[in-house]
Amino acid sequence: MNTTTSQSNPSSTPVTVLGLGAMGSAIAGAFLDAGHPTTVWNRSPGKGDALVARGAKLAGSAAEAVRASEVVVVSLLDQAASRSVLDPIAADLRGRLLVDLTSDTPQRAREAGEWAAREGLDYVDGAMMVNVPMVGTPDALFFLSGNRAAYEKHAQVLAALGGQGTFLGADHGLAAAYDLSILDFFWTSMSGLVHAFALAQAEGIKAADLVPFLTGNGSLLTALTPQMAADVDRGDYPGEADNLVMDTAGVAHVLHAADQNGLDTSVLRAVKSVADRAIARGHGADGWTATVEAVRDPA
Ligand SMILES: NC(=O)c1ccc[n+]([C@@H]2O[C@H](COP(=O)([O-])OP(=O)(O)OC[C@H]3O[C@@H](n4cnc5c(N)ncnc54)[C@H](OP(=O)(O)O)[C@@H]3O)[C@@H](O)[C@H]2O)c1
Repeated sequence: MNTTTSQSNPSSTPVTVLGLGAMGSAIAGAFLDAGHPTTVWNRSPGKGDALVARGAKLAGSAAEAVRASEVVVVSLLDQAASRSVLDPIAADLRGRLLVDLTSDTPQRAREAGEWAAREGLDYVDGAMMVNVPMVGTPDALFFLSGNRAAYEKHAQVLAALGGQGTFLGADHGLAAAYDLSILDFFWTSMSGLVHAFALAQAEGIKAADLVPFLTGNGSLLTALTPQMAADVDRGDYPGEADNLVMDTAGVAHVLHAADQNGLDTSVLRAVKSVADRAIARGHGADGWTATVEAVRDPA
């Protein structure tokens, strides 16, 4: 392995990508675009053809693919898939940087970190925070955590994935923890958005007619986010401008309107239940962020 050449010219560093689903294919494409000799492997045949047409080398096995490169990037369905592919080829991974961008829980990433330590591997866990078209663009965001020295040696290689690779620290679970915290916000927001469209339609309003007003609402949430984060970190939830009792009455109005229109109200009932429990704990005069106390104590 000629690391001297790699450091002076990072785009010549060979890279292997294991897993050629939608994300793995985009990742391999980004390495090809950046000029890296790229070897690819996928469990099922056929998925590497377009990448081979762009110059990638298709390996016959995961072990063969790993042996081709200094940097091995993994993008599989979940950690169970990663374990089934990586555990049998630990010896082949030794001396290379292993970057697993497969999404899963912080705990499973930490277990993978312990496995890597036992096997003597340089391991960085990660999470792609963007959709497929954004991979390799200046706006791409991905999180990494784990072996900092190994990451720093190949940081310029990983820069091919896009503009905002963020190394978060030595704890292998950190990338997944940031990923899932942000996805917690994303999926509950997506659920609320779809529910809002359903309620609008049930009231005879086209979903598209809400859009100009929803985008303003989104901006409001963005503007509120830093202060809400500061309140949660401080454990102090000022409610002078809008208090939890008033907010929860607003939730109840939405819930009743949804119910009257025959819509599913399970998510709204869960939102109201959390707020009701925070009020029962004495936070009625506090702001909405006081609901975090009920989130932390679901009993
Ligand atoms: N797509 C996105 O927009 C997006 C965005 C951010 C993060 N991610 C994350 O990126 C990762 C990959 O997502 P994707 O969109 O590429 O998924 P996908 O298109 O469904 O591809 C899944 C990949 O995992 C492989 N796989 C599944 N089980 C396996 C096993 N037991 N052994 C070996 N290979 C196995 C599949 O191989 P076969 O072809 O053989 O089935 C395929 O290569 C996931 O962790 C996902 O959460 C995706």
